[in-house]
Amino acid sequence: MQETFDLKLYLAEQKREVEAALESAFPAPTGLQRSVIEAARYSLFAGGKRLRPILCLTAAAVVGGSSKALMPAACALEMIHTYSLIHDDLPAMDNDDYRRGQLTNHKVYGEAIAILAGDALLTEAFELMARTRDIPEQSPDRVLKAIRILVKAAGYRGMIGGQVIDLECENLETDMATVEYMHIHKTGALLSASLEIGALLGGGSPEQTSCLKRYGHHFGLAFQITDDLLDVEGDAAEMGKQPGSDVARNKKTYPALLGLARSKESAREHVEQALHQLAAFGRAAEPLRALARYLLIRRA
Ligand code: IPE
Ligand code: IPE
Ligand code: MG
Ligand code: MG
Ligand code: MG
Repeated sequence: MQETFDLKLYLAEQKREVEAALESAFPAPTGLQRSVIEAARYSLFAGGKRLRPILCLTAAAVVGGSSKALMPAACALEMIHTYSLIHDDLPAMDNDDYRRGQLTNHKVYGEAIAILAGDALLTEAFELMARTRDIPEQSPDRVLKAIRILVKAAGYRGMIGGQVIDLECENLETDMATVEYMHIHKTGALLSASLEIGALLGGGSPEQTSCLKRYGHHFGLAFQITDDLLDVEGDAAEMGKQPGSDVARNKKTYPALLGLARSKESAREHVEQALHQLAAFGRAAEPLRALARYLLIRRA
């Protein structure tokens, strides 16, 4: 009989490893600049699902790579994600008070230090990416390629581009094509890059890497659609952030444009598409299958 895959246990184990690696990757606060380090660590160690590093490590495992060789890149992804959350919550952006179950960074440290803490996390992420080169099984070519993938996904061609559209559309009539484009960029790009970098640095073939990248694209869309749904239907204590924020700011979300039922249908379709990309992988991709299905029932 086939064993069923225990996603909860898998996520807990992976999260523990990622957090131990983050702990050694990001310094304890010392020196005259300690306030910014403390602020960065406040958000970095506030919890969070650690999905991007886990997806990166899992993609590597699917193609037969070792997690040790991937850990610096996995930590870099989480640092960039955490910086994006600190900035996303600022008064100039979504103006939110709670994140990861605690007050947002600027509420505790003030706006200036919160901006700088985000900047510090973003910059240090590339030090970690470069450090991947020190791992014997990584080639300089592959590491450079991974860095370029990350730059594209995090910058104006990816996440920043999506965030700009998100903000500018608050006051505009927006069509569904624009909302999909925004979601692909603000959230899908970094998630997809997490899988692509994992597959690439894990030694996957170009075909394997592009399947996992496409899985990431659909995972990312389903993830942001369900994030939009949780803003309507979710619970503050479970999510660690306040629902209702999108409606309050007139955000152009899937539920705002399509309604709840059609948004859920769209999330289901993208989960199906994500699963479809894994057809060639067999048992090794079971964690990725379980992760995609989990999107449809997630509460946080
Ligand atoms: C929240 O991301 C921001 C979005 C891209 C929707 P997560 O839901 O992954 O946040 P954490 O890392 O678990 O806090
Ligand atoms: C955030 O999207 C996407 C990022 C790049 C941070 P949201 O603004 O919907 O994320 P939450 O709901 O605040 O976590
Ligand atoms: Mg936002
Ligand atoms: Mg937000
Ligand atoms: Mg949201």
